[in-house]
Amino acid sequence: MKDKQLIVSAIKNGTVIDHIPARNLFKVISILSLERIDTQITFGTNLDSKRFGSKAIIKIADKYFLDEEVNKIALVAPQAKLNIIRDYEVIEKRDVEVPDSITGIVKCVNPKCITNNEEVIAKFSVIQSDDIALKCIYCEKITHQDQMTII
Ligand code: CTP
Ligand code: ZN
Repeated sequence: MKDKQLIVSAIKNGTVIDHIPARNLFKVISILSLERIDTQITFGTNLDSKRFGSKAIIKIADKYFLDEEVNKIALVAPQAKLNIIRDYEVIEKRDVEVPDSITGIVKCVNPKCITNNEEVIAKFSVIQSDDIALKCIYCEKITHQDQMTII
């Protein structure tokens, strides 16, 4: 195709989250609780990306996220870019920042951890090396990226 076309239509107002690794699209949807949003949401996945090979994009109409909400997606999409759209224009681009700690969202990898056996919400400090890993504040076990189960 010669002319540049958008596979997922442009939005008038809202947030576009671009450059999500395709394999983690549904984790991002879950982290942001998008199932609870009632404005229009469109997404595309397995789109070609020079950087990732395969990326996903989510467009959420009429919704703007707080930094602390959106930074949680850094766990599974550290390269994601946020585009704030007003009246069809991109008025701001933001990177996601890896937070220092994570409460809820992820299950501790240790089956014996109190958070997997009692009514205790999982809480981790974020360890950042090449990849992101989470250290449980209760049992101190490390949950690595590829082990992360989103609650
Ligand atoms: N976008 C949209 N609706 C608009 C404007 C932009 O859905 N009204 C989307 C575009 O499709 C793109 C993203 O928002 O996926 C960022 O737009 P833009 O900055 O124009 O695109 P690029 O320059 O390709 O972005 P990048 O910085 O990722 O290279
Ligand atoms: Zn634990």
